Amino acid sequence: MRNGISLVAIAFAAGCGATAPAPSPSPVSSARGARADRFVDSVLALLSLDEKVGQLTMAPAEGMQTGPRMPNGGAAQVRAGLIGSFIGVTGAAETHALQRVAVEESPHHIPLLFSFDVIHGYRTIFPVPIAEAASFDPALAERSARIAAREATADGIAWTFAPMVDIARDPRWGRIVEGAGEDPYLGAAMAAARVRGFQGEKLSDPESMLATAKHFAGYGASEGGRDYAKAELSERTLWDVYLPPYRAAVGAGAGAVMPSFSAVAGSPPHASAWLLRDVLHGRLGFRGVIVSDWAAIEELIPHGVAATRGEAARLAMRAGVDVDMADGVYPDSLAPLVRNGTIAPALVDDAVRRVLRAKYDLGLFADPYRAATPERAARVILSDANRAAARAAGRESIVLLKNDAHTLPLSRSLRSIAVIGALAGDGRGAIGSWAARGRPEEAVTLLEGLRRANSGTDVRFAKGARPEGSDTSEIANAVKLASDAQAVVLVLGEDAERTGEAESRQRLELPAAQLALAQRVTRAARGKPLVVVLMNGRPLAIPWVADSVPAIVEAWYLGTEHGDAVADVLFGAYDPGGKMPVTVPRATGEVPLYYAHTNTGRPFKAEDKYTSRYNDGPSTPLFPFGFGLSYTTFSVSDLRPSRDRLRAGDSLGVTVSVANTGDRDGDEVVQLYVRDDVASVAQPVRRLVGFRRVSLHPGERQPVSFTLGPEDLAFHDLHMRRVVEPGTFTLYAGSSSDATLAAHFTVVGDTLVLAPATPRMQ
Ligand code: NOJ
Repeated sequence: MRNGISLVAIAFAAGCGATAPAPSPSPVSSARGARADRFVDSVLALLSLDEKVGQLTMAPAEGMQTGPRMPNGGAAQVRAGLIGSFIGVTGAAETHALQRVAVEESPHHIPLLFSFDVIHGYRTIFPVPIAEAASFDPALAERSARIAAREATADGIAWTFAPMVDIARDPRWGRIVEGAGEDPYLGAAMAAARVRGFQGEKLSDPESMLATAKHFAGYGASEGGRDYAKAELSERTLWDVYLPPYRAAVGAGAGAVMPSFSAVAGSPPHASAWLLRDVLHGRLGFRGVIVSDWAAIEELIPHGVAATRGEAARLAMRAGVDVDMADGVYPDSLAPLVRNGTIAPALVDDAVRRVLRAKYDLGLFADPYRAATPERAARVILSDANRAAARAAGRESIVLLKNDAHTLPLSRSLRSIAVIGALAGDGRGAIGSWAARGRPEEAVTLLEGLRRANSGTDVRFAKGARPEGSDTSEIANAVKLASDAQAVVLVLGEDAERTGEAESRQRLELPAAQLALAQRVTRAARGKPLVVVLMNGRPLAIPWVADSVPAIVEAWYLGTEHGDAVADVLFGAYDPGGKMPVTVPRATGEVPLYYAHTNTGRPFKAEDKYTSRYNDGPSTPLFPFGFGLSYTTFSVSDLRPSRDRLRAGDSLGVTVSVANTGDRDGDEVVQLYVRDDVASVAQPVRRLVGFRRVSLHPGERQPVSFTLGPEDLAFHDLHMRRVVEPGTFTLYAGSSSDATLAAHFTVVGDTLVLAPATPRMQ
């Protein structure tokens, strides 16, 4: 309806959308949904085929990685109604300018959606996601995401491509940094929390933005940890391990999902109707927008499943990809394919409906600018309160891996500390990869943090060696500094740029120059407090360091307040309580290494050759999943299931008691694991089914209770039904996945089928 006056046009003509049907505050969600659908249909009815394709087109900002500008010709295309969303255009003024063109000059005045990768903060940067997972505190992850949303929306952004909810069990894969680690239960808890944080109570709140669960699905299983490589996954592992965080994200209301770049059993998700329509829409009940990954529709050609861009467009549309990010395949090909009968018009209409519905839910038809102004941005972005929240999140994300002879906390009366390692002074390292609009110069480096924490201590710095280089020429200088100081903080790890997308590693061990630095500094520091602080986005294989250094702190990349957060821990202003969300291997050759493995017919025994083991090193982790120390000590006891027999549909109460047995305040993460002792399909030796982070004073004891439902005991059986089978189960509770405190219960009666056989992989 190019010439008529559209509904949306009337709404804006009548006073900036005052009469546009805004999301209703009615508690009756189905009525609200029907009203929204009617509105969406009325808009859809106005659009020409080209304008419909426009809604499915996401254009990149010019120089996407570096600047927020609109692309050349962008405004003209917006004016013609040929672009529905942007990625990378940020800033209240910049987004306002483009939005004005859309709502005042385009044929139907449909507002644009501005999207961006707001992964762990927008300008105030929070710990990288794997670090935040180490907090074992979903409320914290929700708070960080909320603040990120407040900052990003103030700058005109309404859509983030987060959370990344891919389970990662191979730390060679650089993107392990973006997720919650190896465990489906922890991953699901963090996924739901982040969705809630980004989206808030209602999407129409101008401080809320659309969240995207990505990368659907099994991306973390990329072969050999090589990014973009195919995932050779069994259907059972896909459902039991990789899909639970998506189920949780969808359950929390995630408005969008992004398919993965890789291929599951030969089928790229961007072309997989099975994965997107049967599994995601059909089984997980997802109703939102599916947005392609960057240029991933076009990449169906090199994948070898499409010969031409047109063919790629047809496959992606048939599979259910609604929005084309950046590669221009939909705008080039969709309309001709519909016109020549290759693509059913209804497919395009459905995709456009989902996009319009997202815009409606975000309140864009009521206020296309979502109250984003430079004034609001200045008030909200990088506020003191946001920085304080980042510092709190940073402290909670730190994991104390070793602390022999109470090396930590460091005494405040030290006269001098040598801080060694290039990462200590690196603001880029502090904020980590995918740092949105975070600025290294606004971050507190570890060096600055230590200096600020103790004005009476002379903090001296030497680079020693770069994390990735082979230059050893500055090591002697570092050794001299270590010999002269009263205590040494040695910072080891990897450059932030060496983590994230396209940053797969062959070796998890420290490069030779860093290892040499560690060895020589350790020798020079003998007899004085020596602490290794790790800055990394994946678990590193550091057996020499673990054996030889008295104290090790896993600090990851903690964001804008990195240095303050680490200093809080090193000087004891905060007692660390984080736990590893991934297993730390001793050697790269051990990976994939994860606690929830199956037992095998010949479970590992160090002394028995014919067991599942390696012959050239210990086959155990350096640090297990869920492990982390504190400056105080805890005991976990009295594990009690509420009954010892139940039916498969019943829920089970479990209580356990935790006590602070040391002499300082501290946090413990009480963890509950379950093992299905005998099942029709071999089950993990244990898997996490509950955790709670509690703060206790010295001598304080607290009961912690969990409720296990059928979902916690379920798995996919030989027929790919989700079931709970009768039989005996073992519970374990404690402070890590190594917990030995055990109790038993029995499920009696018939097998409970929670879901029928999954749609067959295609
Ligand atoms: C590629 C990445 O895989 C994805 O996670 C990201 O959201 C897009 N690029 C957009 O930057």
